[in-house]
Amino acid sequence: MKSDFVARGSAPPAQQEMAADAAGIAEAAHILRHGGLVALPTETVYGLAADATSDAAVARIYAAKARPKSNPLIAHVTSLEAALGQGIFSADALRLAKAFWPGPLSLVVPLAPGATVCAASRAGQQNIALRVPIHPVALAVISAVGRPLAAPSANRSGRMSPVTAAHVARDFAGEIDLILDGGRCPVGLESTIIACLEEPPRLLRPGGIARKDIEAVLGHALGEPAVGPVRSPGMSHSHYAPRAKLRLEAAKLDNGEAGLDFGGIFGESKNVLDLSPGRDLAQAAANLFIFLRDLDAREPAYIAVAPIPCEGLGEAINDRLARAAAPRDTH
Ligand code: TXA
Ligand code: MG
Repeated sequence: MKSDFVARGSAPPAQQEMAADAAGIAEAAHILRHGGLVALPTETVYGLAADATSDAAVARIYAAKARPKSNPLIAHVTSLEAALGQGIFSADALRLAKAFWPGPLSLVVPLAPGATVCAASRAGQQNIALRVPIHPVALAVISAVGRPLAAPSANRSGRMSPVTAAHVARDFAGEIDLILDGGRCPVGLESTIIACLEEPPRLLRPGGIARKDIEAVLGHALGEPAVGPVRSPGMSHSHYAPRAKLRLEAAKLDNGEAGLDFGGIFGESKNVLDLSPGRDLAQAAANLFIFLRDLDAREPAYIAVAPIPCEGLGEAINDRLARAAAPRDTH
């Protein structure tokens, strides 16, 4: 199969941005079928997608993100049926998939014998993270390609996940083949990741589906990630690093600080953005990365962050804030 895209050879690809309409989706599918990289919207965050069955295509994701090859990628498929061809689902895994797919949940399961997702996408592991997104653009692109798509968040390793096409363009100016602009991602936080490799399933990353909703479906508590390398490899570093230092659980603003408010405790001020004046955690999640980037661009030394309850989506919000506040590692 030859195409214009492949024929350009080693010349750097001209990055284009297209609306996520029928023409944009068709172009995305064409590029992906020929080994290219496309940033596309999902309900959680923008993903940097490639053909998950191609080692060469997946290698381009690792290179563009400067991501360690030991950090596996989530394979995105259109249905539970397609996921069953890639992974082996325990009774709990099936229960979770049926309850929350399509949606912001990723399940890590043992690799199925006939799986087509390549070793590079799995970082060589014999298990695989799978997700069926609910965003219509993501679903349309995967189904037009007809293969699973590997898609990490479309940010450079160590930066905040993008929730708009403009965020993606800032991290990857001219380096990827296409950005599909589908507007803002509605959930605004990455998927919840559950490892279904043993009993009980373990929570590897809090995210767009709250722990209590998952535990209600399971009928029992989730296990915590073991300390050490069993965790999701990508969660072992400080992540989501803004330039400013974050001061968490701030009761009031100090002089010169920007403020990331929740529930209006800081009062009105020009460098204050309120994640949710009405204390709605889904709204706060949807605004989190947008507001953090917006405040950071104003170049304050500190961003004070109002306390956010740790219930529901608050667990994932607090997890991302803690990572954003953590000392930078060298990675
Ligand atoms: O919402 C999301 O999950 C977004 C959208 C684009 O789908 N994707 C995303 O991918 O957040 P990424 O690569 O930024 O984060 C995926 C996390 C990483 O921490 C990675 O280590 C972990 O999932 N992961 C992937 N495969 C795994 C596996 N087989 N075992 C354990 N952890 C895995
Ligand atoms: Mg990521």
